[in-house]
Amino acid sequence: MQVKVAESEIRWVAEATDILAGVLQAKPEARIGWPTGTTPLPFYAELRRRAAIGSLAAQVSRAVMLDEYLDPPEAAFSSWSWLWREVWTPLRLGREQVLRMPHRSPGIDAACGEFERALAEGGGCDLLILGLGANGHVGFNEPGTAMDTRTRVVKLTAETADANAAYWRGRFTPEFAVTMGMATILEARQILLLVRGGAKADVLRRMLHDPVSSELPATFLREHEGLTILADPEAAAEL
Ligand code: GLP
Repeated sequence: MQVKVAESEIRWVAEATDILAGVLQAKPEARIGWPTGTTPLPFYAELRRRAAIGSLAAQVSRAVMLDEYLDPPEAAFSSWSWLWREVWTPLRLGREQVLRMPHRSPGIDAACGEFERALAEGGGCDLLILGLGANGHVGFNEPGTAMDTRTRVVKLTAETADANAAYWRGRFTPEFAVTMGMATILEARQILLLVRGGAKADVLRRMLHDPVSSELPATFLREHEGLTILADPEAAAEL
């Protein structure tokens, strides 16, 4: 595990971009997992900027989703649409290059099994980028999640539902979601945990110093040898 504290947001963005570029240089066909949320926004803005001027170090050729809402009422309220808008369309990915998370209730358990199979058969995930929930969740693996969990439907805590409703300015409050499980996440060859802002300082300290337990699912990431935690100065304030 490596903990990197960037000295500014600009450096934080540059470090994240370098890590992604390094993975793509070593393996051009690397499959990259992408989180939603506010944390990665400046990083995604930089990827869009570089894509627009043709200065991306290497092109992303394969992507996979980390999580999704279950039965979003409109396509617009989905991680799928959000990721196309923020990252994949600007990076010029095609539909066939992305492994989509299932999101419809009918047959969802079988679809989650299919997602796991497709991920494994395609060689797994080379770099999984993650955000950190204020309550220690990763993906949508809420407190109480076991380390051996796989892709499945989860009920969101009130805190996470509210945090997600804020992304949609209250027009949509998700209740259930579909997420890679902790075991699925831990199978990624490299993990980049992005942590940004003072609101994450407490949970980042706990993630690093509390006992490894399902009370704080992010602590399970410490078991992964290829984990890099990238924090900005505000998020690192309590370390
Ligand atoms: C959300 C998402 C995660 C995200 C996390 C942190 O609920 N399911 O993928 O990484 O919570 O969000 P934010 O970056 O907005 O703090």
